Formats: sequence, C-alpha cells, structure tokens
Amino acid sequence: MQRLDDLLICRLDNNRKQSQPCTLVIFGATGDLTARKLMPSLFHLFCEEQLPLPFRVICVGRRDFNDETWRERLMESVREFAKHYDNCARLWYRFSTKIFYCKGDISDHSLYTNLHKAIAEGESDELKHNLVFYLATAPDLFTMITEHLSKAGLLNKDEHTAPNCRLVLEKPFGTDAKSAKQLNARLTEFLHEKQLYRIDHYLGKETVQNLLTFRFSNAIFEPLWNQKYIDHVQITVSEKNGIGSRGGYYDHAGALRDMMQNHILQILALISMEPPVSLAPEAIRDEKVKLLKSIRPIAPEHVDRLSVRGQYTGAQVDGRHLPAYRQEERVAPGSNTETYAALSLRIDNWRWGGVPFYLRTGKNLAASTSQARIQFRMPPPVLFASQCGPTLDSNSITLRLQPDEGITLRFNGKIPGLDIQIRPVRMNFNYQSEFGAYTREAYERLLMDAMAGDSTLFIRRDEVETAWDIVEPLLQKWSGRPLGEEEFYPAGSWGPENADALPARNGHNWRNPDLEPAE
Ligand code: BG6
Repeated sequence: MQRLDDLLICRLDNNRKQSQPCTLVIFGATGDLTARKLMPSLFHLFCEEQLPLPFRVICVGRRDFNDETWRERLMESVREFAKHYDNCARLWYRFSTKIFYCKGDISDHSLYTNLHKAIAEGESDELKHNLVFYLATAPDLFTMITEHLSKAGLLNKDEHTAPNCRLVLEKPFGTDAKSAKQLNARLTEFLHEKQLYRIDHYLGKETVQNLLTFRFSNAIFEPLWNQKYIDHVQITVSEKNGIGSRGGYYDHAGALRDMMQNHILQILALISMEPPVSLAPEAIRDEKVKLLKSIRPIAPEHVDRLSVRGQYTGAQVDGRHLPAYRQEERVAPGSNTETYAALSLRIDNWRWGGVPFYLRTGKNLAASTSQARIQFRMPPPVLFASQCGPTLDSNSITLRLQPDEGITLRFNGKIPGLDIQIRPVRMNFNYQSEFGAYTREAYERLLMDAMAGDSTLFIRRDEVETAWDIVEPLLQKWSGRPLGEEEFYPAGSWGPENADALPARNGHNWRNPDLEPAE
C-alpha cells in the first residue's frame, strides 16, 4: 500500500533545466579534485543515466598520458573514491570511452589550438554547441586560461549564437577583496557574468539545499525565526583531519580563506536571509547578497574582540601522534597561517538586530561536523524557569549538515518519576532513517547544473565580493602578525582556549557537538 507521505510528494523538477549534450573540459585534470570528486561524480551520474547524451570530457594536463593510459589511471581513482563503483563497475568501459586526454602547458597557446581541434572533432555537432570549461586550477591561472580560450575562439560572449559556453571556477575565488574584484573585472572582459559559475561545493550538499525547504516550506519555524525568539546562532564546521598533503595550498590560504569566506558565510546566508520572491536563481542570490550586505562590518580596532585564530600543535590523538601544523609537509617551519578561525558577527536588519552569530571552523579538532544551532531565548522567569535557574536549558534547533545528516529539536521534558525533574529531550529527524543511506555527492548536482546552465547553486559576482569584504579586516590584521602563545591549540581539542571568550562576552558558550549526541 502506498504511504500517505508518498502521495504528498511535491515535485518541483519542472523548474530544473535539463542538461543538454555537452563537452566538459577540465583544466588541472591531473590534480586531486578530478580524481576524488569530479570523475567519481560523473561516473555515478553516468551509471544512473543522468548524464546528457551525447557527452564527453576532455581532461587537460601537463603530464604524459594518452587517452588509454589516462583512462586506466582514472579507473584506479574512481574505484577508490566512487561510493558505488562496485555496483556499476561493468559500465566503466562504456563511460571511459567518453573521456579524452589533451596534453599541454596551460601557458602555451598551442594547447588551446589543439583543444579547439579536439572539440571540433566531436562525434556529433551537438557536442560543439554546449561547452563547459571547468577550471580546477589555482585561481592565479584563471585569467590566463580564459584569455587563451577566448583568443582560440572557444569562448563566446554572445548568448544567442553557438557555442553556448560557461566557465566553472573552483574556490578560492581570489585571495582577498581586491584580488577577487580584479579577477571579476578581468573575467567579464571575456564572458558575461551569467556564464561564470563560481563553485562552492557546500551548496551542492543535500542538507544545505534543504535549508531553504526547511525554512520556507513549513509554517511552524519561520514565525520564530527572528530576534524575538532566537537568542543566538552558532555555526560550526569542524574537521578531525589536519591538512593532509595540501600544505602547499593551505599555508597560503588558512582557515579564513579556505572555509569561512565561502562555505560558512553561505550557510549563514541561507539560514538567515529573507524569503526570496521565487525560486529563480537571481531571486535567491539577491536575498543572499542582501543578507551578506547587512552584516555589520568589523572595524579594525574590533578584530581582536570579535575574532579568534589558532593553529594546531602536535598531540597524541586516538593512539596516534599528530604532528604540529608547522611540521606538516610543505608548510613553512615558522608559519603563522591559521588552522582555526572563529568569528562573532551581527546582522543589522529588522529580523536579526541584537542576535549574535558565532561562526567557527578548524582542522584537527575534536570531531568532524558541520552544523548550525539555533538557540532560542529562555522562557519567562516564572514557574519552571524561576525554580530551575541556569540548569534549565533553552530550546534549540540543530541543523546537522554532516555527518549524521538531519535536524534535531531540543526542548525540556519531565523525567518520569514522583519528583519533578526536568532535562532536555530531543526530537530527531534523520535523513538516513527517513530516506535511506545515500546522499548524493555535492559535485554531482553542481556538474549537472553547470551543464544545464542553471546557476542557482553558484556564487554571483556581488556575492563573492561581499563575502571577501566581510573577512577582509581579519585578513589584514592577521597577516604577518606572529601567533601568540594563547593562539595554539593541541590537535584533537576544540581549538584555542581563548575562543571560549568570544561567546562568553555575551553570556553564551560553544555547544560542542560531541557532547550532545543527536539521538
Ligand atoms: C574544501 C576545503 O573547500 O572543503 C577543505 O578546501 C575542506 O579544506 C573541505 O576540508 C571540506 O569539505 P567537506 O565536504 O568534506 O565538508
């Protein structure tokens, strides 16, 4: 028998653009991203018959491969990183025939002439009309690649004539406010803003997409979603791992550029923006920008009061010795790069006036989790609240983005018994028990959208620039300033001790997820 819940499924798929036959060109294809994320995602889409047909990928790299050796190499990574490889291994051969390798140096124009030839040789005309160039390279190469593509006649700024082309740009988009603005200005010499797809893979996560559904398809939460009822909000994106083999990149980035400016500010925007007038890409992005612009700028003299940075030191964790950040591969021995950043922000608008937002992220912390916790105000100080004092907790909603994806509502309940004893209890929605185990890899959705020309989940120019403006005062203050004793934290902890002062100034404290299991 069909469940009532299934009869009530509301499908909005008609709003989604369908993918067209497409040639996807990946620059920087021999890097980690292609092996770990892009190819496993494409293969899974292929197995599910979601990829547009015809379809092909041209991978651009400097290393010495031909189509055959490159496909073999990719098979190894897909086998290692694709969650569903075993279920559809038999399809690998068919999929691999859609992958091609184009060897060359991205600073050498002959690469682009070869690329032009390779694109022109596509098995069908349709493949030449929808071109997606995915730049999985360092951001300082974006302009050079775009300029070459344009000179080679591979970019077309006129949306009414073929080919239809788009550029997907990996983060970080620039290194600070100024460089991001310059980059935007340069790129838009060659392409329209609507052809630029700045990626933030957090926006491709199911649970992040669910934030809008949760807020705007329900009537019970939104009336409470404001300063009248909400005391403060905490967003934690913590990682148990260190920087692994990414020292070369990370030592120039740090937690602020790597996570705060993009993923965390995006989560913040989705949690706190006003309802958009429609689900159209521009309507949603307009609201996100409006929200980001309402964040109170941090004056240089307030940086130390409103933010904390930290760097991990070596420690024994789960029976393993974890090295200090400064001893990691390709990290400068005296590096002052932050591996932890926390921020206290205010949103100066009608809805959020007076509500602090605490954001934090870090590597080698006590647990891996991404979550936003909405902490409600205390009930009036009468009845239970007046008798229990500080042992009565206020209510909260925790949006668990990963792992253990779901939503928890925490409220107070009476412990069964003759006495009146109260403690927090939980109502828990869990993705896995409700919908089954698999949540799609974020890149699958984003790749499909880029091929279809749907920019909803990509970052607009004004959005990326505003996000840089928010963190800029911190970047400036922290750059070149040696880390103080109190800014180090042992690997496996919840960050530097002085991070506690950030919420404590307003009478709040961090709610560490490992102390509060969802169930
Ligand atoms: C990336 C950062 O954007 O996001 C990494 O560069 C970080 O440093 C990663 O580890 C986290 O992504 P996820 O999907 O594992 O939470």
